[in-house]
Amino acid sequence: MMKHIPVLLDAVVNALGDIRGAHIVDCTFGAGGYTRAFLNAGADVIAFDRDSTVVPMADEIKSEFGERFTFVPRPFSYLSELPDKYDAIVFDLGISSMQIDNSERGFSFRGNAPLDMRMDSSAQCDNAADLIKKLSVSELTQILRDYGDVSRAGILARAIKDKMPQTTFALRDLIYNPRDIAPVFQALRIAVNDEFGEIRRALSAVPDKLKTNGKCICVTFHSLEDRLVKNTFREWTTVPGAAYMPNVSDAPFSLIKPQTPTSGEVVANPRARSAHMRGVIKIREI
Ligand SMILES: C[S@@+](CC[C@H](N)C(=O)[O-])C[C@H]1O[C@@H](n2cnc3c(N)ncnc32)[C@H](O)[C@@H]1O
Repeated sequence: MMKHIPVLLDAVVNALGDIRGAHIVDCTFGAGGYTRAFLNAGADVIAFDRDSTVVPMADEIKSEFGERFTFVPRPFSYLSELPDKYDAIVFDLGISSMQIDNSERGFSFRGNAPLDMRMDSSAQCDNAADLIKKLSVSELTQILRDYGDVSRAGILARAIKDKMPQTTFALRDLIYNPRDIAPVFQALRIAVNDEFGEIRRALSAVPDKLKTNGKCICVTFHSLEDRLVKNTFREWTTVPGAAYMPNVSDAPFSLIKPQTPTSGEVVANPRARSAHMRGVIKIREI
């Protein structure tokens, strides 16, 4: 299995600046690439991940950095429950290479496996096959449209409901337009893991959980995620009630320059190609 190569790591580290002695929340531990870079640069890190398969990697980092690192095996919407305020809160959204490459987890249409797609396989939530069973045709249509921009979503939703696929190949074989295969898998994955609900809940906790001069950085991998983050940051950097007369000096946050990967990074790591980094800095208490 391919080890996850952190995406836009240099851009994120540069955006954070000098983090010696800082307290950082890494909301998406993954293989610990970001966390390790923050620890090596002198910060203390609290990291979330809801996928229990990352625990051995978190244990390894714990044995190296001791008290300076805490792993929280929970969804990042738990951010609102953390007791303190932090110097930075970082999200590297989506799934890791370990998740997509482990064909048994059902995220990928390149290997045959039960149609699971749960990031937390121990969670009580429905897997993709169960979700398909529960949804009506119109609910499934909405998911394919909203989270995958799938063409002729209604016809496809009806076909999926008729066949009730139990495996990744059974689902893949129902999708007549090859260009829709990846978007259909993406849409179901987003729905199974309530990915946008998680992002919304976590982002709504960020303003309160950041210290003044604290930064929130998000790396996104598809346009829907990016739009959600961009619109949220735009709200924070605009004076409330004056959406059409932005007056950045009075807003509680200001924007950090967005970044995309260099062509060199995309060549070295093709999974970086659709990534966007966005960030904000909290300039005053709200
Ligand atoms: C792209 S990877 C992060 C990679 C990491 N930055 C690194 O350098 O190794 C995303 C990780 O976030 C986790 N994740 C996604 N959504 C989550 C959520 N709502 N709560 C907690 N973890 C989540 C996934 O399980 C996955 O391990």
